[in-house]
Formats: sequence, C-alpha cells, structure tokens
Amino acid sequence: MAVGKNEVLFERAQKTIPGGVNSPVRAFRQVGGVPRFVQKALGPYFWDAEDRRFVDLIMSWGPMIVGHAHPEVVEAVKKAAETSFSYGAPTEVEIELAERICSLMPSIEQVRMVSSGTEATMSALRLARGYTERDLIIKFEGCYHGHADSLLVKAGSGLLTFADSTQNAPSSGGVPQDLVKHTLVLPYNDVAAIESAFQLRGNEIAAVILEPVAGNMNLIRAKPEFLSSIRRLTEQYGSVLIYDEVMTGFRVALHGAQSLQGIVPDLTCLGKVMGGGMPMAAFGGKKAIMSKLAPLGSVYQAGTLSGNPVAVAAGLKTLEIVSRPGFYECLTGQTQKLMSGLQKIADKAGIPFATDSVGGMFGMYFAKSVPTSYAEVTQTNVETFKRFFHAMLDEGVYLAPSAYEAGFTSIAHDNLVLEEIFAAAEKSFQGL
Ligand SMILES: Cc1ncc(COP(=O)(O)O)c(C=O)c1O
Repeated sequence: MAVGKNEVLFERAQKTIPGGVNSPVRAFRQVGGVPRFVQKALGPYFWDAEDRRFVDLIMSWGPMIVGHAHPEVVEAVKKAAETSFSYGAPTEVEIELAERICSLMPSIEQVRMVSSGTEATMSALRLARGYTERDLIIKFEGCYHGHADSLLVKAGSGLLTFADSTQNAPSSGGVPQDLVKHTLVLPYNDVAAIESAFQLRGNEIAAVILEPVAGNMNLIRAKPEFLSSIRRLTEQYGSVLIYDEVMTGFRVALHGAQSLQGIVPDLTCLGKVMGGGMPMAAFGGKKAIMSKLAPLGSVYQAGTLSGNPVAVAAGLKTLEIVSRPGFYECLTGQTQKLMSGLQKIADKAGIPFATDSVGGMFGMYFAKSVPTSYAEVTQTNVETFKRFFHAMLDEGVYLAPSAYEAGFTSIAHDNLVLEEIFAAAEKSFQGL
C-alpha cells in the first residue's frame, strides 16, 4: 500500500520533534494510528496533508468558537500585523481588551494578560500564595490546569492518558516530590472531602483551584453543593478561590461558567477563546488581590510577549462576535442537537453511550450514564471509544484522540454539518 503524506510527515516530524508533536495528545497515542497533519481550515472543517476534508470537533481544543479563519478575525489580525507584531510596551488595544473582559466577567476587577493558560494558572497560584502568605493549594482529581510543577498531580487528559499516577505522586517526571507536597488532591464533586480538608488544614490553604465544568477528564459538571461548599469554606478560611476558566470562559456562556453557577470567584483564569486562536490568556479578579502583582506589589510576573498586539486584535474581534445577540443560544442549541442525535444513533445500534454538553463544549461516554468523577470516567469503555474514533475518522469526522477529552463545536457547525456527522455516526456505531 502506498504510504500517505500524513505518514511521511509523521516519520519526518519524529526526527526533529519529540514524538513528532508539539503537545502530547496530538500524537494519537491512546487511539493509535497516524496523526493528521493539517494544511488549512475554514469554518467547521480542516483539510489534512492528503487534501482530505474533516469536520472538526476539537476546534483547536476550544479557541475557534467562531469557526476557523472567520473573515472578520482574519481582517483584524491582518490590520494589526501591518503595524508590527510586538512592541514590548503598552498599547491602547490592551486596555480595550481588559475593559471588555472586566465588563463581561463582573468578578474580574483587574486583569493581567499572559501568553498561555499554563502561565495564567501558574501566575494566579503564585499570586494567591503571595497574597495569603500560605503555601498549600487544593486541586481536584482529573482537573488539568496547565503544566506548572505544583499542578501536575492527578492532572487530567494528556496526563490521564499517559501517566501512571498514584495518589499524591507527581503525574510527570521532573516534578520534585518536595513541590507537590504543597498540593492537596481531592476527588471532584466530593463535598465531605473538601469539608474535612478545611477542618484539618484550613488556615494553611492559600488557594483552591478548579475547573468549574471539568473538560480534561472528558466533560464532568461540578455539582452545585460542591461549588457552594468550596465558596463558603474559602471565604471562611481566607483562602483564594481560583476558577480555571481557560476552557470554559466564553465557551459555555458569555459570562463564563461562573455566571451559570452563580459563584463569584476571587480569581479567574482565561485562555483559549479569549485569544481567538492566538497565544493569549489572562488571569484576573479582585483588585485587592491583583494589586499584589509587580510593579505594585511583591509577587513577580512578567512576559516579553504578554498583551501581544496581534493576539489582542484576534481576541478582541472574537469577543465582539461572541457578544452578538443569540450567539450562545445558537451554539448551545446546535451542540445539544448534536448530542441528542448521536445518542439516538447509538441507542438504535444498541451501544451503551451517554452524552452531556454545556454551551459549546460536550462529552461523549461509552458508558450507561454520564460520569460524575475521575474514578467513574476511568471506568468508561476506552476500547470501544478507540474503535469509534477511527471509524469516525475514516468517515471524515475528527474527534479528540482520547476518551478523556471534552469536544468542542463552533457557531459554524450548522445543520448541514450536523447531518454530515450523523451520517458518519450511523456507519460508525453500526460497525462497532
Ligand atoms: C482548564 C485548563 N486550564 C489550563 C490549561 C492550559 O492552557 P495552555 O494549554 O494554553 O497552557 C488548559 C489547557 O487545555 C485547560 O484546559
């Protein structure tokens, strides 16, 4: 059989890039096979190196909510690029973006821009520690907050796929045990566990960080009583509540998961959608906390490319588009339609299958019901997922190459696109 171009590129990539990829989950390790090398994308589709078109259900792992290469975003980026790509000095557009973020997310009084979600969470944690003058942090099993050392404990998705992590051991090589001893890992959605952690060590806890809708162990919703207990306890003990909305911010709703849940966090981390696909992220929150940051306060945080003008242009235009009336109603409706359609097809084929979605983010589980914890997610049928993944890929639909990832739609996923996905699913479920 002739060797395809994707295979040729993968072979070539592995010579100079570890594993042939610049981020591990792209390597198809859990599902096996050859990653597709993308040459271009438009709206809900991308084309691989062999000129094959795929319906994209990852959308760059969340950012491309208005569809790939949206003409208005492209125009904004072109215009910004004409006046240089970076200055290392402040600009008016950064203020505009900060003002827009603060008006869309009322819990954010001040915001600092960075270049990746990892930087946002890492900086938010440092700030929380500096502000409280405490070391201990709480994170939850299966939540991924980027790859800062103290957060690589029972982290989800890529790490859930690759690592053999045991309780309270780092999920990655190269992370000192001495560092993760300051990280308490608790089960997601477990109210009793968080209550007892605060009872035992509340006065030492600098911060609780969580994904308000977990999207790195497939999709798992936080229960209201879990969230309200965390908010009550952090307030009572003077710990900082950090909402990691890198994935959920502007994806599940215009005002974030926090608006759907009625929770006002102390700090919020943003990324993905806010940069419209450019390397851009942010963290922000209460002014009293944010003013501890350098140059005002003692907590150091900086970045050569922070607030990059081309990235800001993409982010501002994307936020303008998602703010238009009806955007989230449409996105949420299409995503729900996609999930209910897939459920019907799976039921008809007699395959145990469940789905969930929040805004433009969805979960599909080869299980009888929707999981509520990391432990339950790891019980879903990964072998069936792998077969389904490849069957869908053969039919031209690109799902996340891991059973532990959420999926993402965009406003460009219209009814015609859903029909294409359903046609692929009919064949794929039948063949499982
Ligand atoms: C919830 C969450 N936080 C943080 C990050 C890290 O963001 P980045 O990959 O931009 O460093 C991710 C990435 O997927 C994420 O999903």
